[in-house]
Amino acid sequence: MEEKKQPSFPVTTTAFVTVAQVSEILPDHGLQVVVHGRSVAVFLHQGEWSAIDDECPHKKTPLSQGNCAYGQVSCPMHGWTFNLRTGACTEAPHKPVVIHEVRTVGNELQIRLNHHP
Ligand code: FES
Repeated sequence: MEEKKQPSFPVTTTAFVTVAQVSEILPDHGLQVVVHGRSVAVFLHQGEWSAIDDECPHKKTPLSQGNCAYGQVSCPMHGWTFNLRTGACTEAPHKPVVIHEVRTVGNELQIRLNHHP
């Protein structure tokens, strides 16, 4: 019998999930939400929404607690910076964070998970 290989990433969904009300989000302050058991950091920065994995690839610190400025979030632990649009890490280009799709429907903030890069 063939053994089914488990993916090395969390389950990817195909549907948007409501995670918060738009009115709960403060500009430039991260909000931690959980989508299908996966922690995601949501930001409203310069009028645009971003959703990234809420775990720094360096030492797993929640990025939702980081400073948000100039299109990036800085990890509160050691200061690695991540582009809020691409997930790219300035200090460690080989360790980006996964970005997720985010949209608003009325006052609902919705996220759809993406695969790991
Ligand atoms: S834990 Fe994020 S930079 Fe070290």
